Parts: sequence; structure tokens; C-alpha cells
Amino acid sequence: MRISVIGCGYLGAVHAACMAKLGHDVVGIDVDETKIKDLAGAKAPFYEPGLEELLAEVQTTGRLTFSTELSAAEGSHVHFICVGTPQKKGENAADLSYVNAALHGLVPYLSPGDLVVGKSTVPVGTATRLAEVVEESEPAAHLLWNPEFLREGHAVADTLSPDRLVYGIEGGSEEHPAVQKLDEVYAASIQAGTPRLVTDLPTAELVKTAANSFLATKISFINAMAELCDAVGADVTLLADAIGMDNRIGRRFLNAGIGFGGGCLPKDIRAFMARAGELGADQALTFLREVDAINMRRRSRVVELTRELCDGSLLGKRITVLGAAFKPESDDVRDSPALSVAAQLQLQGAVVTVTDPEALANAARRFPELHYEHVTESALTRANAVLLLTEWQEYRDLDPYEAAALVSTCKILDGRNVLDPSKWRAAGWTYRGLGRP
Ligand code: UGA
Repeated sequence: MRISVIGCGYLGAVHAACMAKLGHDVVGIDVDETKIKDLAGAKAPFYEPGLEELLAEVQTTGRLTFSTELSAAEGSHVHFICVGTPQKKGENAADLSYVNAALHGLVPYLSPGDLVVGKSTVPVGTATRLAEVVEESEPAAHLLWNPEFLREGHAVADTLSPDRLVYGIEGGSEEHPAVQKLDEVYAASIQAGTPRLVTDLPTAELVKTAANSFLATKISFINAMAELCDAVGADVTLLADAIGMDNRIGRRFLNAGIGFGGGCLPKDIRAFMARAGELGADQALTFLREVDAINMRRRSRVVELTRELCDGSLLGKRITVLGAAFKPESDDVRDSPALSVAAQLQLQGAVVTVTDPEALANAARRFPELHYEHVTESALTRANAVLLLTEWQEYRDLDPYEAAALVSTCKILDGRNVLDPSKWRAAGWTYRGLGRP
């Protein structure tokens, strides 16, 4: 199948490479010339495990090309819209300008029978509006909404073997020709047993925002429990293990710590609330305001705990922050809780050194005033307190005795509750977790 992928960010670049891997002829399109040049040279414009190897592999087959021109979509039969929908500046709502521009730019190149597949995360109601634009311009083409559930750091595997496929189509009928066409694109996954659900357009859009809202709620729930555990001296990690053994609850996404960040969860819950307000259903989602508030409180809590660790004053204290990315296996610092904490500590007079295996360049662009150090040992040297804020494996594996020899004062705040407190205490460290005695 000939496929175009419009937008080559996290979602589109991975999707284009994976579609080529599945045997399709793919053109990836993006207005960003540098990104396209990188991708055409099999270089990933961001850190994503396995992506560069995959780009190199599929490019030798000749099935994957890149272009900065939307006209390159002409001749493809399936067009995936993968552009970003960031939070609008100064508002909670999503900025749909990239989605609108991509669709309006694409329609002149559509042919009868073509399928436009929306993958971007959009406010409910967007797909119906976009379907009308397609219909007006090329009545024999169709628009289908196929939300994406990939996680950064696992994007290639999540795209090649998704846990479910959701197709939203006007009328929601399995018999729709667009459904058959997309089944051909995803034939390998479907044959491998991936469940596929066909819904109407608004349900498909809602599946995505509801899923991310649920995940955010789960994290804020356990972080609220961490606040209670702190108040009574209980241990939130054991609490999570115990409630997680109930299959109805499940242990995943119950890791208490400094909270969620990234380019998706925070902006998606806010856009969802904004959209519910427009629909007159804002009461239905007022709980998400609390989810957001609990999450943001985590960051201030870590700043306060660090002050306590530093005997009541941050002024002039050398603080080492392990981790800048919003989560491990990513160089993404969008709304990163780790960086946000680092910046707040710096503003309150601490001398902050940040280290991260992959995200330092992006972090330095975002917060140039912080000090960055590539080598973990150098970052730890002479620290008054160490904060583990992104749980990269190399930080989980740190040897407390070796680290003790580097720092000035053996004080560690485990912002992700991933270290063994007894091991660190035995090596002479003052250990603080979040919601752990
Ligand atoms: C999220 C969803 O998990 C994906 O399914 C979705 O496709 C994606 O957003 C998207 O909308 O594109 P992602 O942003 O890559 O994926 O990150 P997550 O793995 O969901 O982690 C989000 C944040 O929650 C991270 O900062 C992570 O550290 C934090 N987190 C996660 C916790 O604090 N505790 C947990 O137990 C789990």
C-alpha cells in the first residue's frame, strides 16, 4: 500500500518507519527541513530506542522516503495525519492549527477512494468537522480516526505490536470500505491477534483522551495516597504493591513520586477539561482539575523536602539532580517534573547541577541558567544533597558507597521511590523517599 505520513514528530517519524517495516511504500512529510534531512539520512531527530536502527533498515529497502512538500502525498492511498496538538499559549485548550493546516494542505492531492487517517490527539468533535472538509473536496475519499497509544521510550514496539486498534468512522459500521482499507494497512497486527474496535468518530476521539485521563488519575491517586502516607508514616510503595495485587486495580501506573509530565498527559487532561466546558459538560471533568493540582503539588513538595534535607535553607547549597527527561529512555523535557524542580531550587538560591544520559541538550535549551554535567560522577562531586528525579537504570544502579565518596554530604531524596532505603542508609546516607517513612 502507498502511504503518506504527515507530521514527522515522535508519532509520525515512528509511524512512517514502522509502516515501511510492515512492507508499505511510505513517504514522510514535515515542514521542518532539518528534521526531514535527518530522517532521510536515517538519523532520528530525538532519542527513541530502536528508531535509528529501524530507519536504517527500512531505508535500504527503498520503501521509505521523506519530503517537505505536501504534494508528495499525491499518489498515496492512505494518508496519516500525525501532527502535534500542543496546549495553546495561555489557555488550557489544544492548538489545532497544525491539524487544520495539514488537512487543508492535503485535500488538493486526494484521489477518489483515498483514506485520510487521523492519529493526532484532538478534542472530541474535531474529526466530524474534518470529515466534512474531506467530503467537500473529494466526496469519494473518507476520513477515519485511529488514535495512537504509543509511549515514548517504547514507541517502535508499541506501533508494531499495539495492544488494541481503534477505528472511528462516521456511522461506526464494520462494513465501511474505509475499515477494510485500514485493515489492509494493519494486516500484520490483526493477524497477530491485536483486537480491533470500530466506533463512531466521537467515541474514537474520546477513547484517547479518556485513556490518558485515566492514567493521569491513577498516578495522582497514588500520589494523594503518598501525601497521606507521609502524614502517618506509612509506606506508599507497599500500599501500591498490596492494592495492585487486586486485578481490578492493577499495579501499573501506581508509582508514587514527583508526578507525571511530558508532552501528552498534562496537556491532554487540560484540553479535555476545556472541551468539556465548551460542550456544557464541565462538571463531568472537574475531578481532573484535582488530578492536575495533586500532580503539581508534588513538585513543590520535593522542593520543600529538599529544603528540609538541607537543614532548612537552600541558599548556596550544591544540589545534584539526577535526570532531566520527563521519564527514562527519552530525551523529551516537555513539562518535565525533574527539570521543573531543578529550576525552582535554583530560583530559591540553590546551586543546581543537572545530569541526564540523553536529555541535557534539550534541557539546556529550556533552562539555560542551570548547570549541566554529562558525567554522573562529576555531577555528584561535592554535592550537599542528591535528588533522583528521573529513574534511568544507571541511577537505580548507583552504588551508595561509591557515591558517598564523591559527595560532600550523604543526603539523597529519591523522587521516584526506586532505591532500596536500607542499602543507602547502611552506606551512611540520609535517605528520603516520597510517601515512605
Ligand atoms: C502517554 C500514554 O502512556 C500513552 O499511551 C499515550 O499514547 C501518550 O501519552 C500520548 O498521548 O501520546 P508518554 O507521554 O510517553 O505516554 O508517557 P507515560 O509512560 O504515560 O508517562 C507519563 C508520565 O507519568 C511520566 O512523567 C512518568 O514518569 C509518569 N509516571 C508514570 C508516574 O509518575 N508514575 C507511574 O506509575 C507511571
